[in-house]
Amino acid sequence: MTDYALLTEQITALTADCPWALANLANAAAALYWSMDGINWAGFYLLRQGKLVLGPFQGKTACTVIEPERGVCGAAFRQDRVMNVPDVHQFPGHIACDSASNSELVIPLHDGAGKRVAVLDIDSTGYSRFSPEDEEGLTRLARELEKRIRWEDLNCGD
Ligand code: SME
Repeated sequence: MTDYALLTEQITALTADCPWALANLANAAAALYWSMDGINWAGFYLLRQGKLVLGPFQGKTACTVIEPERGVCGAAFRQDRVMNVPDVHQFPGHIACDSASNSELVIPLHDGAGKRVAVLDIDSTGYSRFSPEDEEGLTRLARELEKRIRWEDLNCGD
């Protein structure tokens, strides 16, 4: 399993001296993608004008705009909770960006005021790829990362 404490440290180091939010999210997406087995997509959707808009990612091209009513990303955002979906084909409204994806983990991200501003989305070709330990490690990582991003620079928000 990925050492999420180490990965969190690596992402913290990568973002520590860089004030630019876009660069930091881009490096975070790359670090996540290349540190985990069986992953075919890792990246961010950013809240803009009430919709989730594609941000930095690694993987195949993806849908650019997700309505908050739709998909696993929309559900995680709307309910402000982590969605760990073992079989995306069983998830009503799942958006199949890459037909190879079979399981998915989505974590809502917040600005300094606690407002939801984005989601981290990680897809896998495997079923049930994300164990409770993966979910916990990645959620902790996300809680650290969200503190290091200057969300206001990305014009995230309603
Ligand atoms: N599958 C997601 C859409 C984004 S892609 O996986 C990159 C969803 O259902 O929200």
